[in-house]
Amino acid sequence: MKSVLVTGGLGFIGSHTVVELLARGYRVVIVDNLANTRAEVLDGIASISGQRPTWANIDLADPVACRALLAGLPELAGIIHFAAHKAVGESVQKPLAYYRNNFGSLVNLLDYTAERPQCRFIFSSSCTVYGQADSLPIREDAPVKPAESPYGNTKQVGEEILRDGARAHGFRAIALRYFNPIGAHPTARIGELPLGVPQNLVPFITQSAAGLRGALKVFGNDYPTRDGTCIRDYIHVVDVALAHIYALERLLAGKGSDPVEVFNLGTGTGSTVLEVIAAFERATGRKLQYEFAPRRAGDVVAAYADTGKAAAGLGWRAELPLERSMADAWRWQQALAGK
Ligand code: WQD
Repeated sequence: MKSVLVTGGLGFIGSHTVVELLARGYRVVIVDNLANTRAEVLDGIASISGQRPTWANIDLADPVACRALLAGLPELAGIIHFAAHKAVGESVQKPLAYYRNNFGSLVNLLDYTAERPQCRFIFSSSCTVYGQADSLPIREDAPVKPAESPYGNTKQVGEEILRDGARAHGFRAIALRYFNPIGAHPTARIGELPLGVPQNLVPFITQSAAGLRGALKVFGNDYPTRDGTCIRDYIHVVDVALAHIYALERLLAGKGSDPVEVFNLGTGTGSTVLEVIAAFERATGRKLQYEFAPRRAGDVVAAYADTGKAAAGLGWRAELPLERSMADAWRWQQALAGK
């Protein structure tokens, strides 16, 4: 039974990936310091999987604690590294905390793979690295643009740290550039748990529809798009989780020539904000209250993925449509209300 360390394994994408790893017979160890989630996510994982993975509550940016944790896990087949601060706006207010946490944890973990290159490494990156791409759909060889936020910088430089570490120490890694993960597990036992006012579109929609928030503010309807609102590539979180299984299996099979490979995780389809709202209304039969508001600083007009490299390299494609994501997100919101 191969053992995999999942950092941030109680988070949104992490928890869904843990469920898929357990379903495929991997032994999973979760490390999560609850910086952006809650301990009861482990109950949700256990209720779906019928297994309760080991959970270590440590700060991976602490080199002593991280080394002590890893010393007890000498045979890891892989590390899937989700744990990071990820709020774009917050990163502008607290850049040093973002660099300390996101780089410190990454480097501490890579010390392990430097000593044990048989342990493969998967890194959560983001389409944020592309900024406003020059052409759409966005290919992995599109130029990386100057980061628009310290958060985006931690993803760009994180990929560079991977490449330099792999070149010097001989380990293998894959960076997965997420577009916009949304939705929740179809069992409604795990999902997105935004703490505080949601910054992202879909959790704000579900909380507004649940009466927890006022009307949705649509940030800008004067963009050069088919309906004036921004375009993004919204991908079901279960599809994103499955892509991590495929990436791990590619690494374990020793496929690929580059020590560090990069793949987009998107559906290849762009949707405007108004189209997301319409999909929510169709999926749930509920009318969403919204109003137009000024543009949000830092938003790009449009971003959606070229999916060809992931299809060819990972043998993976997103399969769940936008309406299914909205239905699952709403079911999860209703389950939260019942907690
Ligand atoms: C999507 C669209 C908003 C909220 C960010 C990060 C990215 C990743 C996902 C971490 C935009 C509009 C939003 C609202 C709105 N994060 N919107 N009203 O900005 O594409 O991506 O989150 O990995 O790295 O950059 O996602 O959901 O915030 O916004 O109109 O209340 O919805 O303007 O056009 P984004 P988002």
